[in-house]
Amino acid sequence: MAKKSFPLSKVYSLLEPGPVVLVTTALKGRPNVMTMSWLTMMEFEPPLVGCVMSDLNYSFDILKSTKECVINIPTVEIAAKVVACGNSSGRKVDKFSKFGLTPVAASRVKAPLVGECYANLECKVADAKLAAKYGFFVLEVLKAWIDPLIKHPRTLHHRGRGEFMIAGETIKLPSRMK
Ligand SMILES: Cc1cc2nc3c(=O)[nH]c(=O)nc-3n(C[C@H](O)[C@H](O)[C@H](O)COP(=O)(O)O)c2cc1C
Repeated sequence: MAKKSFPLSKVYSLLEPGPVVLVTTALKGRPNVMTMSWLTMMEFEPPLVGCVMSDLNYSFDILKSTKECVINIPTVEIAAKVVACGNSSGRKVDKFSKFGLTPVAASRVKAPLVGECYANLECKVADAKLAAKYGFFVLEVLKAWIDPLIKHPRTLHHRGRGEFMIAGETIKLPSRMK
């Protein structure tokens, strides 16, 4: 079958795995939240997560100085709020109150959990050597929380330009991993 050329500017939309997350940070007791889809697992245990955060974002400044954050994993039920957090800056607004999200105290970091998300990962920055050049941070997950009632979370997966896939069918195949 003939394939057609695909613009380099859209390559990200083929590879972005998601799920889209909400990254929370806090500075001097004031919490902030931003939407993020560019993240990847790097190690099983302790879990390491790599992520790209633009230095134009207020969250970048807070993460760089406090070296901690929470990765919150939302589901489709709060999709509109997730997008809203990605289209406004905490420099100007309190996104928790503006978009009706609930900050819940974390156990290992000062950044809050987002109560409405089905899972929350408390993280510290393990490596910021590539932050200045690429906005790339390696985060170590210190503590993880999950809603035990949600067995098949309908997470959001960004396809670019306002399009999202919603996680659906799960299949199980033989695996070497126990
Ligand atoms: C679906 C979606 C995914 C996004 N993914 C990222 C990302 O991976 N990295 C990033 O730096 N910004 C990403 N953004 C943009 C930030 O969320 C946005 O710039 C936000 O306003 C930053 O907020 P802040 O200034 O309060 O930190 C994304 C936005 C949306 C809507």
